[in-house]
Amino acid sequence: MSESPTSESLITELDELGVAFSAEIAALASEPDIRAAQARYLGKKGRVSEALKALGKLDPAARKAVGEVGNRVKSGIEAAVSARLVALADAVRQADLARVVDVTLPGRGARLGTLHPMTQARREMELIFAELGYEVATGPQVESDFHNFEALNIPKDHPSRDMQDTFYLSPLWSGAATETLLRTHTSPVQARTMLRQPPPVKIIAPGAVYRRDDDPTHSPQFMQIEGLLVDRVGKVSMADLKGTLLHFVRRYLGDDLQIRLRPSFFPFTEPSAEVDMSCVFCRGAGAGCRLCKGTGFMEIGGSGMVDPEVFRAVGYDPEEVCGFAFGMGIDRMAMLKYRIDDIKTLYEGDVRVLRQFP
Ligand code: DAH
Repeated sequence: MSESPTSESLITELDELGVAFSAEIAALASEPDIRAAQARYLGKKGRVSEALKALGKLDPAARKAVGEVGNRVKSGIEAAVSARLVALADAVRQADLARVVDVTLPGRGARLGTLHPMTQARREMELIFAELGYEVATGPQVESDFHNFEALNIPKDHPSRDMQDTFYLSPLWSGAATETLLRTHTSPVQARTMLRQPPPVKIIAPGAVYRRDDDPTHSPQFMQIEGLLVDRVGKVSMADLKGTLLHFVRRYLGDDLQIRLRPSFFPFTEPSAEVDMSCVFCRGAGAGCRLCKGTGFMEIGGSGMVDPEVFRAVGYDPEEVCGFAFGMGIDRMAMLKYRIDDIKTLYEGDVRVLRQFP
């Protein structure tokens, strides 16, 4: 600003400020920036306001002319501000409208999970026995020595009670072994069911069991299915047991399969038998089959007629009732059905495996 501005120089200065402002806001793209620019020109200490302070030094006639120019420049700046803001809002709206959303595109469906092959196997087995009138019974996985061993006529010195085979639970503070353990088989559900209800009994008991075992065919936790049928003396025989198991095997794995009962020993059955079925790979042919080592059979579980001692332990009268029991590995049956050769595959939860069992 010159010492004593003339009306001409003041008008020129005001006009130049108007032009400068236009150039300045053309480059601005946000409302706060534009408002700040507006304040730099029109604010109390803004450039236009500062220039107009010289107005007072002009004579009245010149003052009017310059004042008019000042007002024109001011309203020019205000108009430029609103025009710029409108243009910005417009651009945002245009961009919004230009966005293309294809509402006819099919949605991305959520992927449904599937039942684990072990669950599928268990359910299928339950169904086969349910068709024969069996009910599903359950018991705790943390068991007492009484239900897991004592009631099942398993004597104190029986090898299955060994620390080598059984997980005993001990209180953290003492570390001493207790009478509480992880059940080593589903057979304690036999005792629990009979203790809970009078005969007749017709149950299966599927569930997890635990043993201190760990190799390709043994997992420290695995699944068994127990069967127990108790009725009046004379109404149940070993033939019923064999017929039931044969029906189950054929229904689960194929009508061409056979079973065979091999004399054996279990403390809770008398007589006792191992249950073998035709090898599912060679269908019983045997010769040259690696999986059954040429025998044509593979073992699937244990069975027998319930020992009178077991009936006594649960308060049943062995003169009045008799029955059969059996126990099989669900893992093993699932492995045979789905041709899985490592039991760990069933417990790893690898989705590449699980997807094969939709
Ligand atoms: N509890 C036995 C085991 O885990 C299997 C078994 C054998 C169950 C004979 C039975 C049976 O009910 O009668 O090895």
